[in-house]
Amino acid sequence: MTNKEIKIEYYEYDSINGLSPEETNLANAAIEATAQSYAPYSNFNVGAAVMYEDGEIIKGSNQENAAFPSGLCAERTALFYAGSSRPGVPIKALAIAAGQNGVLCKSPVTPCGACRQVMAEYQTMSGRPMTILLIGSERVWRFSDVEDLLPLIFDSL
Ligand code: THU
Repeated sequence: MTNKEIKIEYYEYDSINGLSPEETNLANAAIEATAQSYAPYSNFNVGAAVMYEDGEIIKGSNQENAAFPSGLCAERTALFYAGSSRPGVPIKALAIAAGQNGVLCKSPVTPCGACRQVMAEYQTMSGRPMTILLIGSERVWRFSDVEDLLPLIFDSL
């Protein structure tokens, strides 16, 4: 028997101003996207912003539905939009923010498992690490690889 450990690494900042100008811009796009969320059932407005390798940014937000499983998280809305808009163009970074009643959450919101799996596949397709920025108004987390959010990614097919 061998005892194995997995180490994950991420950086914490007090605000988005600690990020590079390019990443601050992406974080602001995710914050803006929270205002485009359709979340009448949870009242939890999530925004995501994807940056392609060439710097173009696209936004997505959570879209709910009365038949609950039919809705979709902000991250997957943004990633599927990115993948279908410019197939094959590598994705460099993804920022996520959330708010309630127009107020940004203080702590970073961490993505659900299904969104992590989708991020992992877009990272593999991109052939480069994807930066993930989790934006709270009082704390910001930066992951430099999806593997740090989803160790032992399923990629066996
Ligand atoms: N939600 C996201 O958009 N992203 C996540 O990572 C977690 C949850 C959405 C789904 C639903 O519309 C609302 O937040 C409450 O779960």
